[in-house]
Amino acid sequence: MIERLWAKLSKSSLQPADPGAFENVPEHVAIIMDGNGRWAKDRGLPRMAGHHSGMKAVKRITIAADRLGVKYLTLYAFSTENWKRPKAEVDFLMKLPQQFLEIELDELIANNVQVRMMGHKEDLPPFTISAVEEAIVKTANNTGLVLNFALNYGSRKEMLEAVKDIAADVQQGRLAIEDIDDKVMADRLLTSGLPDPDLLIRTSGELRLSNFMMWQLAYSELWFTDVYWPEFTEAHFHEAILEYQRRARRYGGL
Ligand code: IPE
Ligand code: IPE
Ligand code: MG
Repeated sequence: MIERLWAKLSKSSLQPADPGAFENVPEHVAIIMDGNGRWAKDRGLPRMAGHHSGMKAVKRITIAADRLGVKYLTLYAFSTENWKRPKAEVDFLMKLPQQFLEIELDELIANNVQVRMMGHKEDLPPFTISAVEEAIVKTANNTGLVLNFALNYGSRKEMLEAVKDIAADVQQGRLAIEDIDDKVMADRLLTSGLPDPDLLIRTSGELRLSNFMMWQLAYSELWFTDVYWPEFTEAHFHEAILEYQRRARRYGGL
């Protein structure tokens, strides 16, 4: 099966995908896009150049995922901890969604991609929100790949908000404590309605979650690479998918 897939994958980089032709493709892939700054530093460039180049990788991997027949692609673009960075870098990062969508939105629409966002909107500047919301509205009826940007996202904040929501329902008699289960919790997370990621990819050699989807990744397959995000290509993505296909997912069973 692996060999057959290889053949199809190498074909897929040359022509549009035939998703039905692939077996056992992860339905939901989540990526911690890391290493932009180090990529730039290695080249004697400012960190911003790394973020700019990282944007091109977003486009590359969106196309690659769509070709393979991945249904959901969640990309960690800005964490609730990234506000700790120098203001100039934060300001630059806040402008990236608008820049990316200005260039790519038409093509995303043409390719039937549905844009979504998960994160805490309240702290984001209005121009960031409006660019993302425009993309969400314009692609809402698309039925292809769901491209989900995690923007000002933090797993602990997400879970705390869900817990507060559940507590309020209990306090007001809308929910009984004994009825609180996985689904009640999952429905109150920012991923409500999305399946859990099948595969998590993190670039740049860091082996941690950095507050990303800690509820949803409970049974995801994890794949790490030393490659920095700006140089992450379709071939690396295929490597991750092939490794995923070799794994036996047991979910605690046999
Ligand atoms: C990932 O690259 C992008 C964001 C976190 C916004 P980094 O900016 O973290 O790059 P490194 O890890 O410093 O190299
Ligand atoms: C995680 O990367 C956040 C994003 C990729 C958006 P970081 O670079 O912020 O993570 P740490 O600080 O190395 O854990
Ligand atoms: Mg980093």
